[in-house]
Amino acid sequence: MRFITTASALAATAATLFYAAPSIAASSLNPLEIQGKYFVDSVTKDTFWIKGVDYQPGGASNFQDGSDPLSDPNSCARDIFMFQKLGLNTVRIYSVDPTLDHDECMSLLASAGIYLVLDVNTAVYGQNLNRYEPWTTYTEAYMTHVFQVIEAFSGYNNTLGFFAGNEVINDNTSAIASPNYVKAVVRDMKDYISNNIIRQVPVGYSAADVLDYRVTLSSYLECGPDDEAVDFLGVNSYQWCGDQTFNSSQYNILVEDYANFSLPVFFSEFGCIQVLPRTFQEVGTIFSDEMSVVFSGGIVYEYSQEASDYGLVNISSDGSVQERHDFVALSTEYASATTTGLSTASATARPTTCASSYGNIDGNLTLPDTPAASLISNGLNSTFNRGKWVDITVQSTNFSIYDVSGNQLTDTTINGTDSVPVSSDSATQQTDKNGSGGSSSGGGSSSSGSSSGSGSGSSNGTSTGSSSPSATSKSAAVANLVRDSGKVGGAAVFAVILGLIFA
Ligand SMILES: *[C@@H]1O[C@H](CO)[C@@H](O)[C@H](O)[C@H]1NC(C)=O
Ligand SMILES: *[C@@H]1O[C@H](CO)[C@@H](O)[C@H](O)[C@H]1NC(C)=O
Ligand SMILES: *[C@@H]1O[C@H](CO)[C@@H](O)[C@H](O)[C@H]1NC(C)=O
Ligand SMILES: *[C@@H]1O[C@H](CO)[C@@H](O)[C@H](O)[C@H]1NC(C)=O
Ligand SMILES: *[C@@H]1O[C@H](CO)[C@@H](O)[C@H](O)[C@H]1NC(C)=O
Ligand SMILES: *[C@@H]1O[C@H](CO)[C@@H](O)[C@H](O)[C@H]1NC(C)=O
Ligand SMILES: *[C@@H]1O[C@H](CO)[C@@H](O)[C@H](O)[C@H]1NC(C)=O
Ligand SMILES: *[C@@H]1O[C@H](CO)[C@@H](O)[C@H](O)[C@H]1NC(C)=O
Ligand SMILES: *[C@@H]1O[C@H](CO)[C@@H](O)[C@H](O)[C@H]1NC(C)=O
Ligand SMILES: *[C@@H]1O[C@H](CO)[C@@H](O)[C@H](O)[C@H]1NC(C)=O
Ligand SMILES: *[C@@H]1O[C@H](CO)[C@@H](O)[C@H](O)[C@H]1NC(C)=O
Repeated sequence: MRFITTASALAATAATLFYAAPSIAASSLNPLEIQGKYFVDSVTKDTFWIKGVDYQPGGASNFQDGSDPLSDPNSCARDIFMFQKLGLNTVRIYSVDPTLDHDECMSLLASAGIYLVLDVNTAVYGQNLNRYEPWTTYTEAYMTHVFQVIEAFSGYNNTLGFFAGNEVINDNTSAIASPNYVKAVVRDMKDYISNNIIRQVPVGYSAADVLDYRVTLSSYLECGPDDEAVDFLGVNSYQWCGDQTFNSSQYNILVEDYANFSLPVFFSEFGCIQVLPRTFQEVGTIFSDEMSVVFSGGIVYEYSQEASDYGLVNISSDGSVQERHDFVALSTEYASATTTGLSTASATARPTTCASSYGNIDGNLTLPDTPAASLISNGLNSTFNRGKWVDITVQSTNFSIYDVSGNQLTDTTINGTDSVPVSSDSATQQTDKNGSGGSSSGGGSSSSGSSSGSGSGSSNGTSTGSSSPSATSKSAAVANLVRDSGKVGGAAVFAVILGLIFA
């Protein structure tokens, strides 16, 4: 973590005097970039392994009432303090409202040394692909929402990447209907970024780990022209439950299956709850030499206790939080997980030519034409607010925080927020790729109408095919790969229990 201590930065402190609260500079976090199958710090060139949690307090639809997980600095300060206690360097968020102001929460995350992997979809109708009839939902209005998320978040250097979709393909029907639409959304996002955004923020996909097409879907998403291929892949896997080993969990097979994958791959969800309490034994294995060559770490499902019962903390209605047993277990495991460095993994070239077919999915290589060509060429108009790091006004939450035994913590200050105050002017603002400059730092946060109901609450998104996090997290829970005790020829057989519960 670097603090700004230059003379010019100090000189700029005068400009901060109009702030009522003490304003603290966001310390900077370097953008990550992708080199081969690894995330790398673009400045230090250190390889980066993700230690994360999935973060969506209140569940999927909590962003609809004018708030989302990154819109309230006081709640962010509470949770980011807890993220530091967990030893995280990354969080994943499933749904945001791009018209809200996320500047202070993103700056707080940066100060705490934490990156964000962000899904661009929401459970609101019109803001996700219908997995069975994707052509009904692949519209200009949908892509407008996606581009708004890109605009809102790509100005933050601690945005690690975007997920174009989460488990859109999760059964045999969607495996036929959706693959080329997922690739089309990836293509549109990458084209939009390449035309309109300075930093080439990576675009990935978060896959349900279904053995029928684990390898074929990832190969299909990896291949082809640069702008049609994902930049990284997340895998939602719950196959390590309780007391297991690298082999007994069949992580060894997972590693073999992705050994040739040319891009970064990591667990975008892990943390089976079939055996409670969770001890997160798998963390040591994920960061061990046998695994860290292929997997760039992982993200535990999930921070807050919700109906699906995966929480690391309880959040009460008064906004106080309390650690649960799993919180303590995970912080212990993350603290002792170290990755020494790359072994002799040889770089695999990304296949720019696709195969003629991919097993158990429709690997149609003709992608639908984009419905948003004009937006991709010209960008959203300049009234759309692009996020940027700002001075921090909240260093510690005013919500109460309790440890697992019920003792209230007295010092809840986030480490890294105590650097020299500087003006927010020192934060580099996103400028238009074409050089027209001047991002609208003060430009209102309203982008109004053309996106179908962003934040409007017009949700019937839990209808069939919504890729809502609540649906997917439940499906992930149910789709846990469990070891079948029946063995065939000594090889453990996985039973894939696929079930989708719509909230
Ligand atoms: C902040 O840093 C201090 C000193 O290194 C450490 O004792 C404390 O645990 C840290 N706080 C958090 C939330 O990580
Ligand atoms: C899905 O397709 C695979 C491969 O074709 C098949 O083995 C499996 O039985 C199918 N599953 C269902 C639920 O139809
Ligand atoms: C794990 O499985 C591999 C085969 O995939 C085998 O070669 C190896 O000996 C096993 N390791 C242990 C500790 O059982
Ligand atoms: C990985 O590549 C090796 C060498 O080309 C090959 O033998 C192996 O089958 C491949 N593995 C997968 C899962 O495709
Ligand atoms: C979390 O909340 C649940 C349900 O309200 C309660 O049963 C449990 O004891 C709480 N756990 C902690 C550690 O506060
Ligand atoms: C492949 O996808 C394109 C675009 O959606 C479609 O027009 C075409 O019919 C599909 N081809 C096959 C063989 O399904
Ligand atoms: C921005 O540049 C891209 C090519 O890099 C071009 O297609 C697009 O029309 C330009 N947009 C504007 C507003 O000039
Ligand atoms: C906590 O701080 C916020 C401002 O960040 C304020 O609106 C709220 O009233 C405070 N709550 C308490 C309980 O002090
Ligand atoms: C973001 O990263 C780029 C590349 O390292 C750097 O030039 C820029 O100053 C950074 N922006 C901020 C606000 O730190
Ligand atoms: C800017 O974009 C918003 C949302 O996309 C739209 O409602 C508005 O009319 C546009 N303004 C101009 C001047 O094009
Ligand atoms: C609800 O979804 C259906 C498609 O399933 C769509 O035709 C309808 O317009 C949606 N209604 C609202 C209020 O979003």
